[in-house]
Amino acid sequence: MKASPTALGIFAITSLQSLASALTIAEINGNKYISPYSGQTVTNVTGLLIAKGPNGVFIRSTTPDKDIATSEAIYVFDRNVGANLTVGDIISLDAKVLEYRSSNAYLYLTELSTPKNVQVLSSGNKVKALVIGKDTIDPPNTQFSSLDGGDIYNVPNGVANISEVNPVLEPKKFGLDFWESLSGELVTVRKPSVIKQPNNYGDTWVVGDWKVTGKNKQGGITMTDKDSNPEAIVIGSPLDGTKNPNTSKMGDELEEITGVVQHAFGFYSILPLTAVKVSKPAKGVAAQKPTSLKSKGQCKAITVGSYNVENLSPSSEHLPLIASHIVTYLKSPDFLFLQEVQDNSGPTNNDGITSANLTLSALAASIKAAGGPTYEFAEVAPATPNLDGGQPGGNIRPAYLYNPAIISLYKPNQGQGDDATSVVKGSGKNSPPSLTFNPGRIEPANPAWTASRKPVVGAWVAKGATKPFFTVNVHFGSKGGGSSLHGDRRPPINGGVADRLAQANVTATFISQILNADPKAAVISAGDFNEFSFVRPMKTFAEISKMKDLDEVAGIKPTERYTYAFDMNAQALDHMYVSPSLAASSKSDFEHIHVNTWGSYAEMVSDHDPSVALFDLCG
Ligand SMILES: *[C@@H]1O[C@H](CO)[C@@H](O)[C@H](O)[C@H]1NC(C)=O
Ligand SMILES: *[C@@H]1O[C@H](CO)[C@@H](O)[C@H](O)[C@H]1NC(C)=O
Ligand SMILES: *[C@@H]1O[C@H](CO)[C@@H](O)[C@H](O)[C@H]1NC(C)=O
Ligand SMILES: *[C@@H]1O[C@H](CO)[C@@H](O)[C@H](O)[C@H]1NC(C)=O
Ligand SMILES: *[C@@H]1O[C@H](CO)[C@@H](O)[C@H](O)[C@H]1NC(C)=O
Ligand SMILES: *[C@@H]1O[C@H](CO)[C@@H](O)[C@H](O)[C@H]1NC(C)=O
Repeated sequence: MKASPTALGIFAITSLQSLASALTIAEINGNKYISPYSGQTVTNVTGLLIAKGPNGVFIRSTTPDKDIATSEAIYVFDRNVGANLTVGDIISLDAKVLEYRSSNAYLYLTELSTPKNVQVLSSGNKVKALVIGKDTIDPPNTQFSSLDGGDIYNVPNGVANISEVNPVLEPKKFGLDFWESLSGELVTVRKPSVIKQPNNYGDTWVVGDWKVTGKNKQGGITMTDKDSNPEAIVIGSPLDGTKNPNTSKMGDELEEITGVVQHAFGFYSILPLTAVKVSKPAKGVAAQKPTSLKSKGQCKAITVGSYNVENLSPSSEHLPLIASHIVTYLKSPDFLFLQEVQDNSGPTNNDGITSANLTLSALAASIKAAGGPTYEFAEVAPATPNLDGGQPGGNIRPAYLYNPAIISLYKPNQGQGDDATSVVKGSGKNSPPSLTFNPGRIEPANPAWTASRKPVVGAWVAKGATKPFFTVNVHFGSKGGGSSLHGDRRPPINGGVADRLAQANVTATFISQILNADPKAAVISAGDFNEFSFVRPMKTFAEISKMKDLDEVAGIKPTERYTYAFDMNAQALDHMYVSPSLAASSKSDFEHIHVNTWGSYAEMVSDHDPSVALFDLCG
């Protein structure tokens, strides 16, 4: 049939296949997470080749739109496609639009796969990276996704998947939307600085010269209530096969970084053209001063430390380094809460050993050798191995070290693993409460502690005091099983949150019994709560126990409250909570000692920082 040119034109516009041939890269990406053309074949897609990687190339539209929600760039996935192509080529190709992820916990990456009919239309075109915050808007610095309800720690978690809701991108408001709107783009980060030591692949979290919230004194960024720092980005494996250094650390300044934006392994990342380089290293641990808090050797001023010593056993290589931290940086506190103390045989499994008396005496001996005092220890070994979580066979537990010249147990009565200690009300006005087992564990049979550490409680007297003080040493269940802050589940899964809520309730209820018996009792609960003070389990803990967060009491700036660095965030998993009488005392003080978060990966002795507090415990 003979057709007029006009008729042909109309036919071309209405034919699906020809329609596809007219698609721009922005149209393929669309203004949501999932491409409207997912699974479809597109033809004659045209773009400027902006970067080459080991398994494909990145192209940018030559006909951009004005919508900031639609990325103008896309990844062309094919091991061979780049063989005869050069950065600066404008190419056209046919391909299939694919949404790819390697785990259903991750977001999808929109890509063009199985490219065909690749043609070079011109060569030697100029390629300019988009400077983040200059050629783009600034990354949003508070919220991650419209599906988080304003707080990534809202419970219940995981009530929606980005991939299913597929929200319209709002790059001005939400961090994940911002990075998705740049998927495949070649970008430059100016004045990058390292916010956490890299993992052993050299993946390095950074922020650039855009507006950043939560910056701490060392140059990391600290998570605060409802702000977990979506403005940060991780620098992944370099496209040219070089390796990022694994020796950098919080606060290091880097040379300018240029690379492509991708989502992989659960995070948006920038894959740099070549390895990042440190331009100005931070002082790191060398800048960390020892605690300024000083003991008076009697109840008027008692120093109390807390340290998660990371799977410590008698044969741990890091045992003398922990001892050195305790003497040098914590100035040998009068009293120490420890967590992750393993039994005498360490992680050896099925040997029936649960006692940690050799671990604790080895640590005490190492502290003495390093110039510290002669500590004694207190613990309650689990009755049955492998019921308290952690590394199999290690039987980690909270335990105490104390300087017997200054602190002693009040009415000691060693509890065994299965014993539940309880609070005995004093008999008269001047008779303080005491514990049936001292030291003892809190309700070891309560299901809240299934596969987790039971808190160890003690009643003690400080030299010169008229009343005992009480300690509750905790290590709540871990965040294992959680999902990434950049992942598909929204709000992200806060792994183990229900367990910690139950544990917070049992622990706080026990503390409330001490305070019911004596509202003015000095109670200190410290350790690895594995949770942030502004998240439900800790709010419940404070509400039920009436204990106060010592960070608040001591007036530590929210950005300086951290004992751990995870992904982009400096964060506080470890806390001290104190009873109302200690909260009201002008003596109470607190310091976090960043001997680990400030170090390089190789310099880390434990994954947690220790803290030191000062109290008047005269009663
Ligand atoms: C492919 O697109 C280019 C413009 O990007 C155009 O010049 C060319 O004619 C198109 N080819 C086909 C076969 O449609
Ligand atoms: C690259 O060019 C060579 C030589 O012309 C050719 O043999 C090869 O198939 C080309 N590779 C690709 C992926 O186009
Ligand atoms: C989210 O996706 C996962 C994996 O596909 C699925 O198991 C889960 O049920 C989804 N959650 C919701 C709330 O749809
Ligand atoms: C750091 O990188 C060096 C050199 O690539 C390597 O030998 C070393 O094992 C890495 N260290 C860690 C902790 O991954
Ligand atoms: C450890 O406990 C065992 C068994 O009670 C005891 O024989 C040993 O003397 C203790 N060792 C130390 C160093 O406390
Ligand atoms: C704490 O536990 C008690 C006893 O199981 C229960 O009645 C109460 O609802 C719990 N409170 C919270 C906030 O979970």
